[in-house]
Amino acid sequence: MDETTPQPLILPKVTVPEHPPIQELSGEEEKALKNHIKELLHQQNAALVAHYYTDGKIQDLAEETGGCVADSLEMARFGMEHEARTLVVAGVRFMGETSKILNNEKRVLMPDLAATCSLDDCCPIDLFSDFCDQYPNHKVVVYANTSARVKARSDWVVTSGIALAIVKHLAENGEKIIWAPDRHLGQYIQNQTGIEMIIWPGSCVVHEEFRAVALQRIRRLHPAAAVLVHPESPQDVICQADVVGSTTALIKAVASMPNMEFIIATDAGIFNKMRQIAPGKTLIEAPTMGDGATCQSCAHCPWMEMNSLQKVAEVLETGQNEILVDAELAAKASIPIRRMIDFSRGIRL
Ligand code: 13P
Ligand code: SF4
Repeated sequence: MDETTPQPLILPKVTVPEHPPIQELSGEEEKALKNHIKELLHQQNAALVAHYYTDGKIQDLAEETGGCVADSLEMARFGMEHEARTLVVAGVRFMGETSKILNNEKRVLMPDLAATCSLDDCCPIDLFSDFCDQYPNHKVVVYANTSARVKARSDWVVTSGIALAIVKHLAENGEKIIWAPDRHLGQYIQNQTGIEMIIWPGSCVVHEEFRAVALQRIRRLHPAAAVLVHPESPQDVICQADVVGSTTALIKAVASMPNMEFIIATDAGIFNKMRQIAPGKTLIEAPTMGDGATCQSCAHCPWMEMNSLQKVAEVLETGQNEILVDAELAAKASIPIRRMIDFSRGIRL
């Protein structure tokens, strides 16, 4: 097929499903529920693996029980290296799927199977596969925020923590690259490296809502604040950042930078860990478009929000919400994921 005449792309419209608000617990109820979950985890030789965007109570329990709270790359690595027979993955669907793909012998449960991700949803396999077919001489690099099928169609899986290094590595080897699905992260990588890529036009509904003009205004009010930005944000927000990076990189920046104030453009769930490691520092949410924007709970991922302690207990009690991935598909999808993990070990991220 002629590479110069790509077919126009019309991405599916992403909608956030209605979901009932999580019931608030009293201090006593929370304590009892946490103890109950601890017991269930112990009885079932299970580990709780949580993303930094989930409810702080889940993050804290994951750490208290020997599980982990981490970015998506570390969640994948932790699941592989831990001896637990069951992994309870509190995050969004692709994180549970990645854990299952890498740990076929383990049972992987998720608090809510409807917790997906706008990047995953905007990159359906049929459309994506046709898109890739138009560029047969390209390496296909996909962000971890994708389905198992999309991963299986790729050559490399990357997370925000390692995307720059992998794209540079491929370009140094003379490869041409298709990047999917986050256009802002793709654009950021292009700007950083000067490497031209064919970019799928997807986006994260949470990070896309950060607003550059409003950010400038807040920066004027807090001139000593450092600006930390996740690279799924728009370019005019990224270009105001002192640090651009994965969730882990942003947390490390709060701990290591001398500033006492930070303006943070990523999901507010991350503040839990930042407050723990830098208790004296002031954390300010970067401004979003707010009411009327596509994101229904800025700056908080509406899918991450579906995770709760109650649902963690429920899946351990019932064994429901198990993630299952067809063995042949898992075998294919594991190749580009393992490639990323091996690469990350080599460069000791
Ligand atoms: P990290 O890989 O930085 O954890 O990001 C995952 C994600 O979904 C960001 O929106
Ligand atoms: Fe997906 Fe955005 Fe939510 Fe991350 S914050 S899980 S990219 S929708």
